[in-house]
Amino acid sequence: AAADKGRDSLFGYENRASKIDFTPIAPTTADELVLPEGYTYDVIAAYGDVINQKGDTFGFNCDFTMYLPIKGSSRGLLLVNHEYTNPLFVEGPVVASYTPKQIEALLYNQGLSIIEVYQEPNTKEWKMDPTSKYARRISGLATFQLTGPSKGTPSVNGATQVQGTFANCSGGATLWDTVLSCEENWETTVNRAGLDTTHYGWVVEVDPFDKNDQYFKPRKHTALGRFHHENCAMGLSKDRRVVVYSGDDKAGACVYKYISKGKFNEAKGKENSKLLEEGTLYAADMEAGVWIALTIDAVREAAKGNQELLNKYQTQADVLVHTHDAAILLGATPTDRPEDVEISPIDNSIFIAHTNNTSKGNFHGHITRFFETDADLGSLTFTYEIFAAGGTQSGFSAPDNLDFDRHGNLWTVTDISTSSLNKGTYEPFKNNGMFVIPTTGKDKGQAFQFASGPVESELTGPWFTPNQKTLFLAVQHPGERSPSLNDLTSKWPHRKGDTMPRPSVVAIKGF
Ligand code: FEO
Ligand code: CA
Ligand code: CA
Ligand code: CA
Repeated sequence: AAADKGRDSLFGYENRASKIDFTPIAPTTADELVLPEGYTYDVIAAYGDVINQKGDTFGFNCDFTMYLPIKGSSRGLLLVNHEYTNPLFVEGPVVASYTPKQIEALLYNQGLSIIEVYQEPNTKEWKMDPTSKYARRISGLATFQLTGPSKGTPSVNGATQVQGTFANCSGGATLWDTVLSCEENWETTVNRAGLDTTHYGWVVEVDPFDKNDQYFKPRKHTALGRFHHENCAMGLSKDRRVVVYSGDDKAGACVYKYISKGKFNEAKGKENSKLLEEGTLYAADMEAGVWIALTIDAVREAAKGNQELLNKYQTQADVLVHTHDAAILLGATPTDRPEDVEISPIDNSIFIAHTNNTSKGNFHGHITRFFETDADLGSLTFTYEIFAAGGTQSGFSAPDNLDFDRHGNLWTVTDISTSSLNKGTYEPFKNNGMFVIPTTGKDKGQAFQFASGPVESELTGPWFTPNQKTLFLAVQHPGERSPSLNDLTSKWPHRKGDTMPRPSVVAIKGF
């Protein structure tokens, strides 16, 4: 299938000045996905929907979405992450401890869904095609190969393959038609299911078009480090090495980039995946403007005289398994929960959503912008600025996922935690939403609200079709604080016959 090569061509990017061509909406508490006038949405897939002829079902709490064209912008595969489950709606209340059946339910309903989607030529409605030969689940019950320096080492208890992926938050496209999915807050599920912690917190790679996962085995790349990976943004250095940026969504955590040892060779197709097995992982020292290489030699030098640390870090595999501690030890900058990272298609600058850090008094977060020296993603020095700050002035709070459109506008969705929504300092923002922020022109840095999510939801995973006429979006955890199934705070998407809210993926039209 002719999946596009990389983000720029995926967007059909045109270097036009940023412009806003919709009337912004006002914040609202409506239990609906509210859009500007002239825009509508179709619900493509909701939790529990059958996705293929085998009877597999769509997982819970959808997050990242990525469209891979089969027929341009009218039929393709949609890869969707499922981040976590809610016992009220999925595995059921826990009495003493989780039963094996509950563990199976919580593992099955996380991970990935690959579905086939198409737009009806007459009605223009987007639908899922459950007769698809590609549609499948790659869940917490699937098998993954480990790659890279930690594979088979004592740091991962000797594992070369591991069970499943879960806590999949956001992700990213590779330059060779596969998808990266990021394991983020894996601890809860690991604890419930009694699994090995060192097998999670990695970047996962799958090939949606390999329908039996036969030729391209689902894998976890240990060279990219183990932490609370929000997403991956891939690009090329000037000398064509592969560069992957990633945030670690935790208060006081760092911004990372990985640079491959070898160079990208388009003719090699999916063989380029090997570039994610050997390279150097760096963490940002923002004060010095330097990318610090996380190598075992540097870590052992910094640990000199501290026997406990010297025992912890004996090999590069140890550095990768304990990435955050190693980065802090080497002087990388702790930041306010780095979430999504995107590479600007205009100038190669790097946008990072710092969602918030309430313990440090940063209630509304900000979007940071790194300028790599010579605009080269392979550079080891950079400067930075705060591109936009959350708050009542800008109108957004707690930025999370980012995406660029072809005009160079930055799209961001917000993730005010459900327990804080509509209260105190967060009251003016009402429900979580989606905002568009021009990165050039007179409105540079100003936020315009494009969407408001249903009650207690978060909008996640915005992804445009190549012609930019459709925007896919996941609506995560509507009604997640419902006291019981008889007392629901949301019933979105309000489908006929539904008796509970369902996390769903939608297609937004009207562009
Ligand atoms: Fe799962 Fe960092 O949001
Ligand atoms: Ca997120
Ligand atoms: Ca978040
Ligand atoms: Ca979330």
